[in-house]
Amino acid sequence: MSATGLAVQLAMDIPCQLFNSLRRNIKYMATATLQNNNKTNDSANQKQEASLTVAQSLSHILADSYLLYLKTQNYHWNVQGSLFYGIHNLLEEQYKDMAIAVDDIAERIRVLGLSAPGSFHQFLELSSLKEAKGIPTAEEMIAELAEDHLTLVSKLTAVLKQAEDSGNISTSDLLGERIRTHEKQAWMLKSILR
Ligand SMILES: [Fe+2]
Repeated sequence: MSATGLAVQLAMDIPCQLFNSLRRNIKYMATATLQNNNKTNDSANQKQEASLTVAQSLSHILADSYLLYLKTQNYHWNVQGSLFYGIHNLLEEQYKDMAIAVDDIAERIRVLGLSAPGSFHQFLELSSLKEAKGIPTAEEMIAELAEDHLTLVSKLTAVLKQAEDSGNISTSDLLGERIRTHEKQAWMLKSILR
């Protein structure tokens, strides 16, 4: 090939190589961007799914808390005997705490993306606690309530683990606070029986 022919060939090849290189880079960047977008979407979907799972578990906690709230108020009204005054007042403190708690739990369920259950029918379906039946003795009331608080502690602990695993700090805070409160309430009730 003559010197002129070589020069012409080079002049054609170099832009062609540049073009191919540019095309490869653009293709690589487009693929990388698509992969990053897919990863971001996957991560957002997983987070959303984890939030809904926690919200679903909180619906059970709400139902348990509401049943225990109602049972505590029932026993506050109906307790009789020599321990009446102390139990009546202690149970008032406890049901007032739970009245605030059920509101916090229901609103947390909404924040996490689900509707909060709000009927006795739903609460009975979702709760694992039993409703009060008849009028037990004061001692039976106290023992039953203490047991219910401890059942709730155990269920709260399981949901706390779920919330922590999904990095849901606000829900973990709320659950930690409820665990401390129910443990204390169980301790106060059991102390009456000793
Ligand atoms: Fe009262």
